Amino acid sequence: MDKHDALSSEPASNVRTHEGKVIIITGAGSGIGRASSIKLAARGAKVVIVDFNEASGQETLDLVKSNGGDGIFVQADVAISADVQNYVQKTLDAFGKIDVLFNNAGMMQKFQRFQDVSEEEFDRVIDVNLKGIFLGMKYVLQVMDKQGYGHIINTASTTAIRAEHSLASYTASKHGVAGLTKAAAIEYVRKGIRINAICPGGVATSMTAAVPQELTESGYIPEEFPNMRIGRYADPAELAEIVVFLASDASSYMTGSIILADGGLTL
Ligand SMILES: NC(=O)c1ccc[n+]([C@@H]2O[C@H](COP(=O)([O-])OP(=O)(O)OC[C@H]3O[C@@H](n4cnc5c(N)ncnc54)[C@H](O)[C@@H]3O)[C@@H](O)[C@H]2O)c1
Repeated sequence: MDKHDALSSEPASNVRTHEGKVIIITGAGSGIGRASSIKLAARGAKVVIVDFNEASGQETLDLVKSNGGDGIFVQADVAISADVQNYVQKTLDAFGKIDVLFNNAGMMQKFQRFQDVSEEEFDRVIDVNLKGIFLGMKYVLQVMDKQGYGHIINTASTTAIRAEHSLASYTASKHGVAGLTKAAAIEYVRKGIRINAICPGGVATSMTAAVPQELTESGYIPEEFPNMRIGRYADPAELAEIVVFLASDASSYMTGSIILADGGLTL
């Protein structure tokens, strides 16, 4: 198990608030996606664990099952349309419906000057972080539209609402995620379908493990790094608690919200 996930295991819950819900979680092989999968399954949801890393995705499924939860793993690159259509179909084959998509898979870019970002690097960040979110929304909305209900939770970032120095591609991709969230929310607002986005600040996952070193090498350390204003990175489990709330009926009046959970980073 990733050392950063050490605090993300979850005791089996007797609060079955998500019983009967079918929830797809992308990027579920690690970090926020893994912690959310474990918590949602402990609350009674059937989880569809999606990741392009087969070993870590299977490991999340094992953790879910050893905790008394139920689910399946589907290998997919969220940037590839056929893979996305496949995870949607596998979900329907296994469970017959989709209540929630936690559209969470994403990648970091190397901290570097705008002018040094290669076109290939820019394309890949946009493909995974923006097109991957778009594809998940597109194919899941087709299902939810027929169902007449559903909720999509996209993972954006504080970089969806403000720029981060030396992270131009990542910032652009996450601004795009906020745009897709609002555009879909307004279109489906009267159709029983809600779309929201979460914006984590610094979360201790494999994605951020290399950040201190990269910042040192880039020669620019923003004032709020490395203490993230609040004095520490979040544990993935703290983000998962927000996902659990959003994925429940308790968030029923929220749609089109761009929700910060950043330890004051953007203050
Ligand atoms: N960690 C942070 O500080 C932070 C802050 C803001 C936003 N986020 C966002 O949170 C989300 C989850 O990140 P995390 O911190 O848990 O990172 P992580 O690296 O721990 O987990 C990301 C998971 O996504 C998977 N993945 C990456 N690209 C994929 C692809 N193309 N197809 C399928 N799976 C893919 C990886 O294999 C990995 O299991 C990302 O969208 C990230 O941008 C993270």
